[in-house]
Amino acid sequence: MPKILLIGSQGQVGQELEKTLPEVGEVISLSRAQLDLSQSETIARVIETIKPNFVVNAAAYTAVDKAESEPELARQINAQAPAIMAQSSERIGATLLHISTDYVFNGQKNTPYLESDLSDPLGVYGLSKRDGEEFIKKAGGSHIILRTAWVYGLQGKGNFVKTMLRLGQEREILKIVSDQIGSPTWSFDIAIRITEIIKNIEKVPTGIYHFTNSGSISWYDFAMNIFEEAGKLGIPLKLQQVIPINTDQYPTPAKRPAYSVLSNQKLTDCLGSYPPYWRDSLKKMLAQVQ
Ligand SMILES: NC(=O)c1ccc[n+]([C@@H]2O[C@H](COP(=O)([O-])OP(=O)(O)OC[C@H]3O[C@@H](n4cnc5c(N)ncnc54)[C@H](OP(=O)(O)O)[C@@H]3O)[C@@H](O)[C@H]2O)c1
Repeated sequence: MPKILLIGSQGQVGQELEKTLPEVGEVISLSRAQLDLSQSETIARVIETIKPNFVVNAAAYTAVDKAESEPELARQINAQAPAIMAQSSERIGATLLHISTDYVFNGQKNTPYLESDLSDPLGVYGLSKRDGEEFIKKAGGSHIILRTAWVYGLQGKGNFVKTMLRLGQEREILKIVSDQIGSPTWSFDIAIRITEIIKNIEKVPTGIYHFTNSGSISWYDFAMNIFEEAGKLGIPLKLQQVIPINTDQYPTPAKRPAYSVLSNQKLTDCLGSYPPYWRDSLKKMLAQVQ
């Protein structure tokens, strides 16, 4: 069985990976307390001491707005740390599986982004993640960079689904942005896909891949679906009205891409199975909310 080093085990994707990865290998999980990626000198030492076959990096600086005022820290965690992971992985002959983001794109397309499309991030977070991708490629070792988007899960503190459930219980009226389109993606499905990649690594050549749940929707329509499903599940809501608004009516420190749907075709061709539809995954996730 391969040895798998999971970095960032306490994030929303990391916690799901902790459950799914043991199916394909012996897993050594490290939380931020055990490996702080801002301490760059320890990253190489840890990887080269453990000598795993796979390094799975689920850790990241994910505070998109806060990154605008903390560019150095975002760069350290999202670009420099993955660079060290890639160099160390290359030295020990391991494959690095790294997660990246739809925010590497500027959102000006209106058809799904391909892996070959030019990146053009709009903010500090996207830029730091794009630089992380570039550093990993430059290290020259075996790697899979999996770009995903609009991640939610049972574990996430501030993810959109959990935030909507909370606000729907607290407020009667909500205003939600209706002019940003993307593909909501359940953290569990990402973990399953990464596990599948490790299991079938010979079918997935080194490179960048997209993985989201299939289908696309605006934040407003996604919120409406969350409330509809929550209602069906008997989750009590105070909410009476949801008002669609434009991005310019909800200013944030970081600009977001207006359209960031990612094509899932490349990885589907490698693995032969298509990602679950976003609404099916949302239903499964909500059914697990207590
Ligand atoms: N969330 C999204 O909507 C989204 C969209 C596209 C792509 N992604 C990508 O998906 C991946 C997983 O994201 P996620 O949603 O699971 O994020 P998350 O829940 O915020 O998890 C990120 C993890 O990274 C850890 N971390 C942060 N700074 C660290 C440091 N200095 N040293 C070690 N660990 C550190 C965090 O630790 P603490 O728990 O201690 O803070 C947390 O456990 C990331 O690469 C992210 O960029 C996410």
